[in-house]
Amino acid sequence: MVDCTEKSDKTQEVEVKQACEQLNFSSLDKLKQAVLALDFPLKKTARHTVFSDGNPNSAVMIIGEAPGQDEDEQGKPFVGQSGKLLNAMLSSVGLRRDEVYISNIVFWRPPGNRTPSAEEIAFCMPYVEQHVKLVHPKVLLLLGGVAVKSILNTSESISRLRGSRSTYLNIPTIATFHPAYLLRSPVQKSLAFRDFILLRKTLSA
Ligand code: URA
Repeated sequence: MVDCTEKSDKTQEVEVKQACEQLNFSSLDKLKQAVLALDFPLKKTARHTVFSDGNPNSAVMIIGEAPGQDEDEQGKPFVGQSGKLLNAMLSSVGLRRDEVYISNIVFWRPPGNRTPSAEEIAFCMPYVEQHVKLVHPKVLLLLGGVAVKSILNTSESISRLRGSRSTYLNIPTIATFHPAYLLRSPVQKSLAFRDFILLRKTLSA
């Protein structure tokens, strides 16, 4: 498990890598039970551990940032306003929400919906990596800067990374804007729509 005392970025990156190498769950259910049993400060202020929603056998896995208030109350990712927009964007390319698999980088709601800290992300990342390995989707869709930076281990902005495919664990990976950002900046929805079309094309390839 990653020790979350203050460390340089490099030290933290090495520790996350080591923690990722040490974790090895044989099934999604075992991973879920391990995540539910974790002890972490964020968990103490949250109502639920939010693990995932949707079809674990899906060809599409979507990863967001962290649960908000609605997600914390219901114990499922993307069930509030952002989730409604996500469902609409999926449906615009012919995908139903129950056909995809959805999770987050961080399993607990940060108080007041603040951005998760580097330490909180580092703590969760080994489990997220296991999660992606076990689901092994055909395409991974990353929503927002926190998911993109954590998964692709980059400091590049989402505006530069969106619109083309990257890979994570050899899985084609598409970055797009977070639905909460699109709710605040609806003018960017057309770019996000292009990313969903790229998702659809990658699925059909
Ligand atoms: N925003 C996220 O990043 N994840 C959720 O589950 C809800 C809102």
